[in-house]
Amino acid sequence: MTSIVPNQWYVAGYGREIGRREEGGDLFSRTICGESILFWRTQAGALTAMSDRCVHRRFPLSEKPSHLVGDTVVCGYHGFTYGADGVCVAVPGQTRVPRTARLRSYPVVEQDSFVWVFIGDPDKAESTRIPRAPWLDQEGWTVVAGMEPLAARASLLVDNLMDLSHETYLHGGYIGTPEVAMTPITTEVDDEAGIVYVSRHMDDAECPPFYAKSTGLSGRIARWQDIEFAPPCLYKLHSRIAPVGSVPNDDGTDPDAFHVEVVYAITPETESSTHDFWMVARDFALDDQGVSGFLAENNRTVVLQDVVALDKLEQVLAGEPDGYQELSINIDTGGLAARRLIDRLAGERAPAGAR
Ligand code: FES
Ligand SMILES: [Fe+2]
Repeated sequence: MTSIVPNQWYVAGYGREIGRREEGGDLFSRTICGESILFWRTQAGALTAMSDRCVHRRFPLSEKPSHLVGDTVVCGYHGFTYGADGVCVAVPGQTRVPRTARLRSYPVVEQDSFVWVFIGDPDKAESTRIPRAPWLDQEGWTVVAGMEPLAARASLLVDNLMDLSHETYLHGGYIGTPEVAMTPITTEVDDEAGIVYVSRHMDDAECPPFYAKSTGLSGRIARWQDIEFAPPCLYKLHSRIAPVGSVPNDDGTDPDAFHVEVVYAITPETESSTHDFWMVARDFALDDQGVSGFLAENNRTVVLQDVVALDKLEQVLAGEPDGYQELSINIDTGGLAARRLIDRLAGERAPAGAR
């Protein structure tokens, strides 16, 4: 199974990561699905994305002394100069610019605090969905976020996030309590929309430190986990924490509960490494820096626990190139559904006869 599905939008970074570095610092570059991409902003603030390899001799345009001049980027090796669309506008020593001198440029969209980049045939970009995560950039929510590099294939992170029973074992003392692994899940697949839903509602559960310290609730809680995964990249965990017995009102309001939207963007860097973007958005203690600091540090710790485990798993799997026989149980239903949708996305786009 491939981890890279072509002709899809992927999160390349946070909008705030990308700016203009005209003098000094390197320009922003990230490898997405095996492609090294340079990102910068025009003077008007528009995002651009293009190959990070000069067409002349492949020098990376993100490397010093490459730099921006107005709305062009100048290669730091021999001075090939490119516009925001990737087309070369000047070369040294001659006035004629070769017609083929252009960098591959990528469709980009800035939305919900993310920079999305389209990997594949650009003509398919417009008709391909970009999933939403509005809480990340919305009044009434406070967000902490980060990104951890994962030396493991993206599919391992998908498996990991689709089955939260591992919280009890891998994240005990942080977000795991016995009830997570004990409570059965329900799984639904919307085949048409291409979304997997996995729900686990714990109506009387221990409150893990992650939520006790951030919400101030003590004792037993109602803890709902509703996963919504839009393959291949965007994973959302709608988390609801409330006193035992509290349920949302019929009109959808839910004043006694604390809501946390845990969002992951799972972006392959290569076939065997992944950018693990994580965000925690909350609708309470909005201005409390202490809560923000606690959630940021705690969630990063939890993510790193997964990173250590998945890096190890990647080494194990890489050492078994002939494959292995998995043994799946009920908790794996969501992960298996996600794999099926990812395979379908990959298969739909495969050239005829390649299936
Ligand atoms: S490698 Fe860029 S100008 Fe020569
Ligand atoms: Fe985890």
